[in-house]
Amino acid sequence: MTGIAKEKYRLAYKTPDFVIEQIDLDISLNETCTQVTATSLVKRQGDHKNSLVLDGEELTLISVLVDKNAVSYRIENNQLCIDNVPDSFELKIETQINPAANSALEGLYKSGNAFCTQCEAEGFRRITYYLDRPDVLARFTTRITADKAAYPILLSNGNRIAAGDNTDGTHWVQWRDPFPKPCYLFALVAGDFDVLKDTFTTKSGRTVQLELFVDKGNLNRSYHAMSSLKKSMAWDEQRFGLEYDLDIYMIVAVDFFNMGAMENKGLNIFNAKFVLANSESATDTDYFDIERVIGHEYFHNWTGNRITCRDWFQLSLKEGLTVFRDQEFSSDLGSRAINRIRNVKIIRGPQFAEDAGPMSHPIRPDVVMEMNNFYTLTVYEKGSEVIRMLHTILGEERFQAGMRLYVSRHDGQAVTCDDFVQAMQDASGIDLTRFRQWYAQSGTPVLNVTDEFDAANQKYILHVKQHTPPTADQKEKSVLHIPLSLALYDQKGGYLGDQYDQVINICQDQQSIEFNGMTEKPVVALLQDFSAPVKLEFDYADQDLLVLMQHSRSAFTRWDAAQTLLNKYIRMNVERVRNLQKPELPAALVDVFAEILRDQTLDKSLIAEMMRIPSETSMAELFDEIDVDAIHEVRCFIEQSIATQLHDVFVEVYQQNKTIQYQLTQTDIAKRDLVSVCLAYIALNGNEADQQIVSAHFHSADNMTDVLAAMQAAKQGQLPVLQEMMHAFEAKWQHDGLVMDNWFRLQATSPAADCLDVVKSLLKHPSFSMQNPNRLRALIGTFSAANPYRFHAIDGSGYTFLREMLDELNHSNPQVASRLITPLLQFKRFDPTRQSLMKQELKRLSARPDLSRDLFEKVSKALAQ
Ligand code: TRP
Ligand code: ZN
Repeated sequence: MTGIAKEKYRLAYKTPDFVIEQIDLDISLNETCTQVTATSLVKRQGDHKNSLVLDGEELTLISVLVDKNAVSYRIENNQLCIDNVPDSFELKIETQINPAANSALEGLYKSGNAFCTQCEAEGFRRITYYLDRPDVLARFTTRITADKAAYPILLSNGNRIAAGDNTDGTHWVQWRDPFPKPCYLFALVAGDFDVLKDTFTTKSGRTVQLELFVDKGNLNRSYHAMSSLKKSMAWDEQRFGLEYDLDIYMIVAVDFFNMGAMENKGLNIFNAKFVLANSESATDTDYFDIERVIGHEYFHNWTGNRITCRDWFQLSLKEGLTVFRDQEFSSDLGSRAINRIRNVKIIRGPQFAEDAGPMSHPIRPDVVMEMNNFYTLTVYEKGSEVIRMLHTILGEERFQAGMRLYVSRHDGQAVTCDDFVQAMQDASGIDLTRFRQWYAQSGTPVLNVTDEFDAANQKYILHVKQHTPPTADQKEKSVLHIPLSLALYDQKGGYLGDQYDQVINICQDQQSIEFNGMTEKPVVALLQDFSAPVKLEFDYADQDLLVLMQHSRSAFTRWDAAQTLLNKYIRMNVERVRNLQKPELPAALVDVFAEILRDQTLDKSLIAEMMRIPSETSMAELFDEIDVDAIHEVRCFIEQSIATQLHDVFVEVYQQNKTIQYQLTQTDIAKRDLVSVCLAYIALNGNEADQQIVSAHFHSADNMTDVLAAMQAAKQGQLPVLQEMMHAFEAKWQHDGLVMDNWFRLQATSPAADCLDVVKSLLKHPSFSMQNPNRLRALIGTFSAANPYRFHAIDGSGYTFLREMLDELNHSNPQVASRLITPLLQFKRFDPTRQSLMKQELKRLSARPDLSRDLFEKVSKALAQ
């Protein structure tokens, strides 16, 4: 593989030599030998004599006919080349594929007893030879034939137009999708499912059939997904004016899936994790994520499907925008502040880490070897931040005008990120020239702010400087258009008014902002709502942060001030620990935590978020060189100090907020969230009465959120009751992989010294499977990405373990392997001993002659640094 791994460049884009306007697929399903006949109408584009070149992988080619005649052809590097074709012709290609052998879960594969497909980004070429690129839009019909007893349900995109039985026990169904689409949106499903049916009436009065397919026996876990779908459809009409366009919308849940879900036109395929839920088996977070992902895939119908990407470098065109839309959906339906806090944590943690590592890339990458490697936090989450900045700069009204222009201009087309920004600029009249740089530039910009108070002239002045440090992929950086939202408060936390609450457009490398009429030095809330994905440097006095924590009008600012204050003490204490001094925490800080905890006016989930100490991985982002041991020690110290000093408050708040009977309401979700935080602190104290509380919480729980809160707490405090809980849980859920993932994750994040041994032994657990991406992520992924203290063990055992797992997955599932490798790529950030151990494992991988393209791209970039 390494020999032929080639880089592709964004600027090398060329319009296709041929287009396919219509394709009729005839697919006869069989576990090991599926027959695919593709009949396409192909047309030459432009004035040239080039050969027709089609992509194909892992296909057995049976025949090729041009206008019903056999022709000569060549297969060159996985491409089918036909010379001297007419300008317009019918192309008929017969191929065979082996779905049962497809463990990569790309193309057509078996998930349990069902057949399903995953074609994004370049999986369609594993089904037939085709122009597998998103700017070739064709009308599809799909005829599926399969054994009727084993596969009574046969699905594809669009509307069902015909069906029938054959005499040999098989049956067939034909589907037609009226909307031209790129092949990455093609889908096929065959199996035996339970189906939940419903309808939705659009704002123009059309009735849409909704069908949700789940494994037999799972209907009682499908209702939340269906109601999420209806909420998504209603929300997109209300907020974006966008209506569904087909008469039927189908969702299928499958157990084996590389990612979250896929927006195939009219036939979404979902990882069962983002469909199935009831209160006994799913946590509040699971419910939230289901609503979010159902929304995300539904919103793609316009932002992705009706208007798609010209080429894969433009991926953020659909993903950044659709993540922005799903975040807005969640925020309109739930708590805006809490949503913002959780999304900002992802940017400041793993996204900043990605931007500082060897895979750093702009939201619109310039060079790609394996496209699957670019479904990243940068393209998705930072991409959404870029859309959010546009929204902040334009305001909702002009932003929506921009959306309307974008849709009316480009409906039915495959376009670029530039086309999107142009529509926003044309509709708003706001010059976005400098803003476009966000699409081109990688790395995390730093906003350095200093302030000055001129008492004589009653002036408060802010000096703002921006710069972006060089990244692995780009040395030179330029100035960006950064919307900086800020507000002023007086020394007691009084709001100074709307005239002092504004968004400043930072468009130069240095800018000063003056505020007049200041009788005293104000307290400034900077980067409100995280108005740009940047690192803020400002020398806040503790006192100012305490004022913002307690008095800001914005819940986000309160949380952010608490984080900034905590971060100061994290930095200071890590330094102390490294100098062999004891860590310490000022009493004033602990007092403020006590006040927050007792505050009856605050949203309970805000309290929970404020009381949570940042994870070790997000703490790591505060440092250039990561000292995992010092970070672990400091985090334990801070948690333990708060746990000990505020023990009685935790017990009190725990008792006040414990819910009686499970209800999935905002209020109760927030209470359970706060209760779980309290419980963890109580467990850290861990005397007999505390253990009793944790144990009682477990035994009285009537829902998965509370069950896991107790287990999590017991793990955190390393309480003896944990053993018994783990056994009870295992006995009850061992046949349910999705639920067992919680059990695997819990053990993978254990701080105990034998954690890795336990993880290794769990590889042989009957509920575990190396074939199932969810299991792999829960056990191996969690251990390596969420347990830095044990993964980075100084003997290198964690690194060797991960490399051995990757060796195994390199062939069976390169996509998942390539996601799991992330923690190893960051070796530059560690001490020399760890660096060399990590590098050694990467070198072992790179020495493999058969390394997948996915891993090759990342390993070689990491080692090239
Ligand atoms: N387009 C999908 C989404 O964001 C992402 C996706 C699903 C995907 N499955 C995939 C991307 C497999 C690459 C490979 O909703
Ligand atoms: Zn998406």
